Amino acid sequence: MGAPEKIDTSVFTEYLATHEKKSLLRFLTCGSVDDGKSTLIGRLLYDTKLIFEDQLAGLEKDSKRFGTVGEEIDLALLVDGLQAEREQGITIDVAYRFFTTEKRKFIVADTPGHEQYTRNMATGASNSDLAVILIDARKGILPQTRRHSFIVSLLGIKHVILAVNKIDLMDYSQAVYDQITADYRAFAADFGFETLVSIPLSARFGDNVLDRSENLNWYDGPTLVEHLETVEIDRDETQKPFRLPVQWVNRPNLNFRGFSGTIASGTVRPGDEIVVANSGKSSRVKSIVTYDGDLPVAGADQAVTLTLEDEIDISRGDILTAPDARPEVCEQFQASLIWMNEEELLPGRPYLLKIGAKTVSATITEIRYKTDVNSFEKLAAKTLKLNEVATVLIATQAPIAFDPYADNKATGAFILIDRISNLTLGAGMVDHALRRATNVHWQALEVSKAARAGIKRQKPAVLWFTGLSGAGKSTIANLVEKKLLSLGYHTTLLDGDNVRHGLNKDLGFSDADRVENIRRVAEVSKLMTEAGLITLVSFISPFRAERRLARELLEAGEFVEIHVATPLEVAEARDVKGLYKKARAGEIPNFTGIDSPYEAPENPEIVVAANGEAPDVAAERIFAWLYEEGYLPAEPTYVI
Ligand code: ADX
Repeated sequence: MGAPEKIDTSVFTEYLATHEKKSLLRFLTCGSVDDGKSTLIGRLLYDTKLIFEDQLAGLEKDSKRFGTVGEEIDLALLVDGLQAEREQGITIDVAYRFFTTEKRKFIVADTPGHEQYTRNMATGASNSDLAVILIDARKGILPQTRRHSFIVSLLGIKHVILAVNKIDLMDYSQAVYDQITADYRAFAADFGFETLVSIPLSARFGDNVLDRSENLNWYDGPTLVEHLETVEIDRDETQKPFRLPVQWVNRPNLNFRGFSGTIASGTVRPGDEIVVANSGKSSRVKSIVTYDGDLPVAGADQAVTLTLEDEIDISRGDILTAPDARPEVCEQFQASLIWMNEEELLPGRPYLLKIGAKTVSATITEIRYKTDVNSFEKLAAKTLKLNEVATVLIATQAPIAFDPYADNKATGAFILIDRISNLTLGAGMVDHALRRATNVHWQALEVSKAARAGIKRQKPAVLWFTGLSGAGKSTIANLVEKKLLSLGYHTTLLDGDNVRHGLNKDLGFSDADRVENIRRVAEVSKLMTEAGLITLVSFISPFRAERRLARELLEAGEFVEIHVATPLEVAEARDVKGLYKKARAGEIPNFTGIDSPYEAPENPEIVVAANGEAPDVAAERIFAWLYEEGYLPAEPTYVI
């Protein structure tokens, strides 16, 4: 036996190298099962031979049992089968499938096309460079085609393929294809798509999917796969300014402090100057640390840990950026928003906003307009419902760093989260910072809140009375105020019925209006507190979220929540203003406790009026509580 033959591995290495180097195209498919979406994805996977043998055998069997296409293989079953499997894993709404051809690698986001389409599309599209919009050639352009296209453009996708499917059922008619293509081009003209290619095809028979079809010899454009393989996508995130959202501060021991995250855009090298977007502090990169050792350079999409030359303050959520092209840092901005929750969006309500690795409290200050996703009309709106899309103004509690979404998807996209349930409520894309926010600065005042309160011998506080209509809030608040005043304390009282005649006379009793009612009153109480006053607030204030907002506007200890816990039966039996009777008769809609909810406080500082406690007894208890807790010191607490 001679020496083992030397194997020439160069062919093999070359093969691997081409695969490694092949570019990656991420795309999504929009359309419903009826349009043939599952069949098309199945066809792509099948024709590119990425289905495992055993899956194929199973498929042939299943097709004979359940298939809707006779003896052939029903490709839709393949995709739907994977879907069922996936659905057992719960939560993920979008399935990502991988396939490859000689020229390119692909990841296709398959978004289920039913009710929650916007939500799923937004999830699938956030990462996609191209959208395949499916049309059933028999039906032409449907409302859903318009909806999907609008959302695709909203999400900044610049490349679209119009897949005119089921053309076999229209006798491979060129006239049908031409009409659909012309109709689509007309309405999509303003969507800013850079490429829009319309392809007649049959996913079921494979015409024009991978291979050119004899049946469509009048068509001289590319097949679906040919176009997917060759369309030029300008996705060079490394050319953009450097951005690294810090996911966590890596500090395993006292000798090492690194900032870890995935580079959102740009490149970085040791020696580069970086700036912390929010604080403006700067330093230089010492090293780029990864599991595979230190790197001389790193770029977009790479997960790295940076160490810096200087010890500067950086925490999770900060963005490290290039010094000469910084993101906006601002508390107010305009954005497009897709609302994804059953419960409607209420302007003024505090939500959590997560952008990059940063989470802050935020409110929608204004819905500028919502867009009808069928007619693209701009409509006035006070709230947003599930799947609605709007242009809104947002205010965050602290400044955040961001780029307009059009410039940088990674640093311009955010989600809104419910503060209690942690559910994702909406997905947004930043348009631009509001100049009014960047041009208004805090003015330093020389007389402080403590000085104003001290001279009045008191600690400022907001006594927030909440409870049903007719619970006795105003009666008790009046008694407390009289007592405080008689002892020389300085007070004021904001009463729902009265404030609604002035400052809030534009507001009614819808959820949205109540949220705004309480938001304004919370801001006013804050101003009163700045004046050093003890402010009594008597509003139904039925929602926890807004009472919490009021609490958070103030300093610790300033907000005293007093639940006037008179039960509904008692308040209704009293019916001092006759309103319950009217509400029961259907004359007052949205009446608290009848057809509008009251969310009782969970941890109020004081509960009164439960079990028939009389107002004067309740008022005495509140006074005693204030005294014991140090709100009413005998001596001035502050001298100017
Ligand atoms: S809140 O819910 O927005 O806090 P607010 O305290 O300002 O309500 O106003 C409540 C008062 O408005 C009630 O005491 C009652 O006199 C009157 N009112 C009129 N319509 C309604 C309604 N639909 N629900 C509750 N109160 C109403």
